[in-house]
Amino acid sequence: RGTPPFSALPAVGSVDLPALLQGRRMRRNRRTAWSRRLVRETQLGIDDLIWPIFVVEGERTRQPVPSMPGVFRLTVDEAAAEAQRASDLGIPLIALFPYTDPALRDPFGSEALNPDNLVCRAIRAIRAAAPAIGIMTDVALDPYTSHGHDGILEGDQILNDPTVGQLCRQALIQAEAGVDVIGPSDMMDGRIGAIRRTLDMAGFEHVQIMSYAAKYASAFYGPFRDAVGTNATLVGDKRTYQMDPGNSDEAIREAEQDLVEGADMIMVKPGMPYLDILFRLKDTFRVPTFAYQVSGEYAMIEAAAANGWIDGERAMMESLSAFKRAGADGILTYFAPRVAARIKAGL
Ligand code: PBG
Repeated sequence: RGTPPFSALPAVGSVDLPALLQGRRMRRNRRTAWSRRLVRETQLGIDDLIWPIFVVEGERTRQPVPSMPGVFRLTVDEAAAEAQRASDLGIPLIALFPYTDPALRDPFGSEALNPDNLVCRAIRAIRAAAPAIGIMTDVALDPYTSHGHDGILEGDQILNDPTVGQLCRQALIQAEAGVDVIGPSDMMDGRIGAIRRTLDMAGFEHVQIMSYAAKYASAFYGPFRDAVGTNATLVGDKRTYQMDPGNSDEAIREAEQDLVEGADMIMVKPGMPYLDILFRLKDTFRVPTFAYQVSGEYAMIEAAAANGWIDGERAMMESLSAFKRAGADGILTYFAPRVAARIKAGL
């Protein structure tokens, strides 16, 4: 006996499907690979990628970050070589994050103001090795403070205004080292305007600012804090300065404030759990808007892929396409060189 092929079955009940569809069939455009390519609305490109890298003291060493498989802390010489590779792949911008020797950390983050600190030396080495790539640095005190906070801690308070003073000095020494883009990730009030004025008065009016405009107090930063060595030392949490994950209107006000103060570009962080925020900010302000696919997002994809639970390569591409679809002009992602190599190979 056997079952008849479905195509031989009569239409369901009395429904006249062709009449119901009135000629429209959404699946027609999806039938072939060329047609799917042709009607695709958004396209991820190499020009959309910003690559965050971790730097550490030493020579010719790459230290694996256990909670971020495939990611390494790089000594300055290695970072310069990787920057050159990224530049050859066509990646427009790299973002630097230092692992500061714990002996150099203090309650005020003084090492942030050392013009010869790790980040400043990395800027100079990368500039020499890869002159065509853009260099971005984080402005925040957390890699330099003994308590792991982005600002100055007094009792259980993070002091806003004194911290802004430190951040201005930090931005200035990074500008003097030759950075292209300053990325304030600290979430203090008024820091964009203060940094802009400081830079302008010192003749660095060309240095761009990408503000971490909507940065949430998130559980997804865990592996990053392993990479820069702040997980072990962080006292309490960052909820008095980073945003509450329940808020959306507040992100509009944060971004508006940063733009009024002089931000050239704004960013949403984390990425995937906050695509609605990304969409709203792009829709509202129409300025260059970026998303940070943070360490925990990277770790989740890698962990699931390592277990064989998802196809890691496809999940990587799909997650990054989603940022573009939501309106991002670009994405900070630890996948950047892998993605760039794939795109370059036509995959
Ligand atoms: C610190 C900073 C953090 C990240 C970028 N800059 C962590 C934090 O705020 O604790 C997180 C990036 C990531 O998780 O990939 N100012």
